[in-house]
Amino acid sequence: MITFSKFNSLFGCKKPIIQAGMGPYDTTNLAAAVSKAGALGLISTVGMGSLQMPGIGVFKYSAIVGEGTPEELLTSSIDKVLEELNDYPDAKFGINIPVSEEFIPTASRIIRMVIDCVKRDPSAEKKCRVIVTSAGDPLPWAIDPLNKKIEESIPIKKELPDITWCHVVPSVRAAKRCEKANVDVVIASGREGGAHCSWRDTSSMVLIPEVVKAIKKPVVATGGFADGRSLIAAIALGAIGIQMGTRFIATQESGFEQGWKELLVSATEEDTLIARGFFGPMRFLRNKRSIELVDATIRGSPDLYKGIPTGSSQEIIDLEVGGLENLFRGNIDATPILGGIVAGRIHDIPKVNDLIDGIIKEADSVLEELKIGKGF
Ligand SMILES: Cc1cc2nc3c(=O)[nH]c(=O)nc-3n(C[C@H](O)[C@H](O)[C@H](O)COP(=O)(O)O)c2cc1C
Repeated sequence: MITFSKFNSLFGCKKPIIQAGMGPYDTTNLAAAVSKAGALGLISTVGMGSLQMPGIGVFKYSAIVGEGTPEELLTSSIDKVLEELNDYPDAKFGINIPVSEEFIPTASRIIRMVIDCVKRDPSAEKKCRVIVTSAGDPLPWAIDPLNKKIEESIPIKKELPDITWCHVVPSVRAAKRCEKANVDVVIASGREGGAHCSWRDTSSMVLIPEVVKAIKKPVVATGGFADGRSLIAAIALGAIGIQMGTRFIATQESGFEQGWKELLVSATEEDTLIARGFFGPMRFLRNKRSIELVDATIRGSPDLYKGIPTGSSQEIIDLEVGGLENLFRGNIDATPILGGIVAGRIHDIPKVNDLIDGIIKEADSVLEELKIGKGF
């Protein structure tokens, strides 16, 4: 049996798998199931606040997560996870907080709320062990931000020295910024991943070993991982574990719509597209709405396909907002369905515990195969 000791010492979990933050959707149930299974579940927070869209206004996700302030919604989510984990003394979970420009005011309120909760509640202090920031610059949130460009930023590790602070990056350049910010773990995200992805087209296979080589911090691999075989591949590339988003959507405990899960099962590795979304480039499963989004991107934000950061257009926003409403009407073909290329490797909708156990068992047997040198 492999022991993933580096991951265990940083996260307190024996199984080296992080369930990705998947806002604006609610991952409370999923996070609890993943943490019970001995891996790390994350509560997603994008849906709990509002997005400040330059030139467009403020957008809220109440249709997805319900009404309430970010503080109310997060308290309710943390309380639910803690209650679920009552009989699991060793379980750990974390919170994902994007810190991109559109989200900064909410991010700051959410980070403050996590700090207060962990300081006040001994059970939260023991189990809520990880903050994963993403989609922005980590430096303003460091103890020593060099020059504090963002008024609302909070020095995460100064407030919570024992928390494991991770930041998600799409490039070697951004990984080096994490080292400067002194984050504990860098999550390197290849472009094949679902939802928000890099402006540039760098795959996990290329990004992960380059990030591992470029920095001294431990690296978790994300974008394209789904099973034991790909976990061992990540370890071979120098990572200490994997983060999975798309694979966890297609599980029994995830709160995603059944039609979304079924689309993942029927999709092949050829069935995703990139178009402009709220946070920049997003990877969608191929359907009628994502093809419309590609057309709208070519019309309103064509530089995206040259890898140049560009703004959105009203047409793109309308397609996304209208599309979210279609989700609740059960019209999956008219909904922008986020998902990674790894959809092509998803063929079932298992229970979270079976999925995670299966990954660890498969990783063990793949490693055994490699040791014996069978089949080369
Ligand atoms: C539906 C969906 C929503 C996502 N939302 C977020 C988010 O709120 N914050 C974040 O850091 N990443 C988000 N991501 C990206 C994941 O965190 C993760 O990096 C990505 O899914 C990994 O690639 P994979 O889908 O191939 O596993 C999202 C991914 C999906 C599929």
